[in-house]
Amino acid sequence: MNKIKIPSHVAIIMDGNARWARVRGLDRVWGHRRGAETVRKIVRYCARCGVNYLSLFAFSTENWARPKDEVDALMELFIEYIDKRLPDMKENGIRFLISGNREKFPEKVKEYFMRAERETAYGKSLNLVFCVNYGGRQEIEYAAGKLAGKDEKIEDCLYLPGIPDVDLLIRTSGEQRISNFLLWKLAYSELYFTDVLWPDFTEYDMDMAFKSYRRRNRKFGKRV
Ligand code: FPP
Repeated sequence: MNKIKIPSHVAIIMDGNARWARVRGLDRVWGHRRGAETVRKIVRYCARCGVNYLSLFAFSTENWARPKDEVDALMELFIEYIDKRLPDMKENGIRFLISGNREKFPEKVKEYFMRAERETAYGKSLNLVFCVNYGGRQEIEYAAGKLAGKDEKIEDCLYLPGIPDVDLLIRTSGEQRISNFLLWKLAYSELYFTDVLWPDFTEYDMDMAFKSYRRRNRKFGKRV
């Protein structure tokens, strides 16, 4: 992929893990496992292509309502992912960031999040944002609370100030919804939907999304 018109901020709603497992007669946890493997590949590919920010919807505020064994498995996957990937994140200058309300996470998961943030803080290539216990409305409410009585902009009070607007939002698995993801930063994003289930999503599918993005005529509400 050449670097012409690569979106600076890509956000992904990684959907379809459970369906991927179901059609194979597997427990849905296997879908998430394969999904985490896709995360590894796509993070590496985005870093190589020159994407600056990659925001992944890894756990929504609603996901706590899933069966306990599934939630527990996702917590384990976060730990495992950080444990395995931290050395190459550091080596490749990837900066790991958390967006969302982390308070509800088990202590061990919070410790891994903090460790990854701390040890990658000087990363200068890709900013990898894990959106966890994340909800777009909750983020705006949080910002409004922080803002109360102060002379600041909402934008500066969001979970992670200083992150630019999303250029390209990708959602896998055929659903065409925003599902409470990054509401504020999606205002002028280009949207790309694919039927591919997240565990099957490859570098080729990412290229298809980049290709589609290159063809878009972004107007930001103005006449161009
Ligand atoms: C949607 O699949 C995805 C999630 C609930 C969370 C995304 C989690 C991962 C990709 C794996 C863990 C990630 C990391 C980085 C360790 P779904 O279960 O809603 O699938 P469905 O749409 O087929 O029901």
